[in-house]
Amino acid sequence: MDGNGRWAKQKGHMRIFGHRHGVKAVRAAIEAGAELGVKYLTMYAFSAENWTRPQQEVSALMELLVSTIEDELPTLMKNRIRLETIGNIEQLPAKCQVQLTKTKAKTAENDRLTLVLALSYSGRWDIIEAVKKVSKLVEEGVLKSEDIDESELNKALSTAQYPHPDLLIRSSGEQRISNFLMWEIAYSELYFTPVLWPDFTKDDFYRAIVDYQGRERRFGKTSEQIA
Ligand code: IPE
Ligand code: MG
Repeated sequence: MDGNGRWAKQKGHMRIFGHRHGVKAVRAAIEAGAELGVKYLTMYAFSAENWTRPQQEVSALMELLVSTIEDELPTLMKNRIRLETIGNIEQLPAKCQVQLTKTKAKTAENDRLTLVLALSYSGRWDIIEAVKKVSKLVEEGVLKSEDIDESELNKALSTAQYPHPDLLIRSSGEQRISNFLMWEIAYSELYFTPVLWPDFTKDDFYRAIVDYQGRERRFGKTSEQIA
């Protein structure tokens, strides 16, 4: 989700104005995903690098996170959406952590769509944490180093229980990954749209899906093999 700051600036407002308007785009994307039968939707809400933004913006984003999760609980329940998180959650203010823990517990049995919020998340950080876990298994003699494979690393990542993404959407015209799901997107289809995040609608989500449906995913094979 990118472009909140630029959207606000274009309108002559403070950056936080853009973040606030970004919430309705979040709602639209979740709703569109649920209606289309998407089972997992991961939203990059706050990166590990975002901590370096001005303190005022960081605090405002954290406040917005708490109030949004609180306000959205009835909608999550109504639409059977399960909330989960990935990232270094311990770095978040206590208030955020409490709100997240509460909401995750309340939505744990919801089965229509799993919404994974990436918070204080960095793909490289997650890979390092996974390597530490795998090293520990080796140290303890549970795993032989020659047996380390993709599946062992997959199991050690914070995304272990989720399938790897089929499609990655980035808004605002930027064409980079910015440390998102570095390992998991190895074979994801990438979709970039110039739409700034607060303007992102259900139709934009549908456009991304339709584009995705026109792709041929070969996973290293030839076109003939896929057919
Ligand atoms: C939203 O957009 C991403 C968040 C960190 C919440 P930005 O805040 O990065 O907006 P731009 O890139 O400055 O326009
Ligand atoms: Mg940005």
